[in-house]
Amino acid sequence: MQRLDRFLSEAGVESRRKIKEVIKSGRVCVNGAVVKSPEIKINEDHDKITLDGVQIHQSSRRVVLMMHKPAGCVTAAKDDRYPTVMQYLPSEYSKLMPIGRLDLETEGLLLFTNDGDLAHRLIMPKHQIEKTYYAEHLGTTTEEDVIAFRNGCELKDGTKCLPAILEPLGDGKSIVRVREGKYHQVRRMLASRGKPVSYLRRIAEGELTLGDLPIGKTRELTSEEILKLESVNFDEKFFV
Ligand code: URA
Repeated sequence: MQRLDRFLSEAGVESRRKIKEVIKSGRVCVNGAVVKSPEIKINEDHDKITLDGVQIHQSSRRVVLMMHKPAGCVTAAKDDRYPTVMQYLPSEYSKLMPIGRLDLETEGLLLFTNDGDLAHRLIMPKHQIEKTYYAEHLGTTTEEDVIAFRNGCELKDGTKCLPAILEPLGDGKSIVRVREGKYHQVRRMLASRGKPVSYLRRIAEGELTLGDLPIGKTRELTSEEILKLESVNFDEKFFV
């Protein structure tokens, strides 16, 4: 027996917090009857749990997957205009949820999991894992840009960013390391320095890198890699 919200969280339906709202809105049935109490106990071996009429199966193990996201698809479950990242997930992983997001035109490392609590922890503003991007842009980044990033960029709309690391590579190319996930953040940070981005790829999250994973492909993380992700801590040294 286990709580209904825990069962759904482990099945990778949503984060635990969101699952409560989903249940309260009457979208979940247990053996055909709508249930609105997240704390109700269910028997995962015998009860039939559905969300919006679709049966949810128990997840027997935790899965964390890395995708090399192609450009031209959105990080969403459904979209009327564009292909979604879900179309690149092998069918056995179709219940996984993305951890954070990458923009339509951004390529690179995107994680998925069926562990709602892990996903929630990794995107909490306070615990955001360091994300590394390779960018190609107009102009060449300078020492002044490096200092502006270190002090926290002010975006064109006045939004202030947390301190970030900029490594100029010369010739219109830079590495950017950030610890937050504002909308189009890296593009807007470089644009605020007069360096609009033409190409962006996330190359690492914490110590995890894409390695030689081809574009559009996925692979499961090893248990050691998952452990490392879980033990990521807010590191003050990032902000020196
Ligand atoms: N910053 C961006 O501008 N886009 C992304 O997809 C991620 C970070």
